[in-house]
Amino acid sequence: MIEGSGEQEIGDRWIRSFGRIKSRKLSDHKKFLLKNLLSTYQIPKQVRDDNLVCIHNMTYTCHPELVSGSKIEIGFGFGDFLFEKAKKNPDKNFFGCEPHLNGVVNLLAKLEKEPLSNLKISQEDVRVFLQNFPDNFFDEIYILFPDPWPKLKHFKRRLITTKFLDEILSPKMKKAARLIIATDHDSYKTWILSEILHSKKFFWLANSKKDWQIFPENWTKTKYQKKAENEGRIPIILNLIHQ
Ligand SMILES: C[S@@+](CC[C@H](N)C(=O)[O-])C[C@H]1O[C@@H](n2cnc3c(N)ncnc32)[C@H](O)[C@@H]1O
Repeated sequence: MIEGSGEQEIGDRWIRSFGRIKSRKLSDHKKFLLKNLLSTYQIPKQVRDDNLVCIHNMTYTCHPELVSGSKIEIGFGFGDFLFEKAKKNPDKNFFGCEPHLNGVVNLLAKLEKEPLSNLKISQEDVRVFLQNFPDNFFDEIYILFPDPWPKLKHFKRRLITTKFLDEILSPKMKKAARLIIATDHDSYKTWILSEILHSKKFFWLANSKKDWQIFPENWTKTKYQKKAENEGRIPIILNLIHQ
């Protein structure tokens, strides 16, 4: 087995770590949601030029007075976890990043039924999206069931590498912030642990098997977690602390 980071960049651009951005045909209602509801929740790309600090001044932020509790889910898929987290924690700011359009629309359908004022999303690659944020911003980051890219020739597409952890996530996280990663893929489990071991910024908080085998109480399972469990794979959860 080959361990260690693949080259994640070509020149000044990242190698794509996600698959298709549109898979299924959208129903008329989903097209309606994209046209009419997306703008309520989406952080437009051009905000980057002004830096997300302006988000805290009302225009795009959820609760400007509560920037102290900011969390982001990277690759929220169909949005079940992010939606429930934001709903249960109305006093915290939630951000979500997902390039897959069908996933974004799925989350919008939930938000149509139950609007949330503490959630904002982006369809950008997280490695670009995070550049919007000031340093020392997030106190929690979730990466749940990231694409495992199982073939050797695709390892370079794997999102989680030491470089990603230390150079992209770390600057945006507060000291003692948490990074929570879950995966069900055996070779990616080993890869992720090896990348964490090489990180100078993240430490794995685990004393016993329970710490990576048991998901927290009241945890909302994502689509990929349910799929993994239905197919007999055992997901693990890694709780990392940022130094
Ligand atoms: C295997 S899916 C898991 C989705 C969801 N977290 C779940 O557990 O059901 C991984 C997701 O990560 C997203 N993703 C991959 N690379 C990303 C990136 N660089 N920035 C943001 N999202 C990304 C993909 O679009 C995909 O929807």
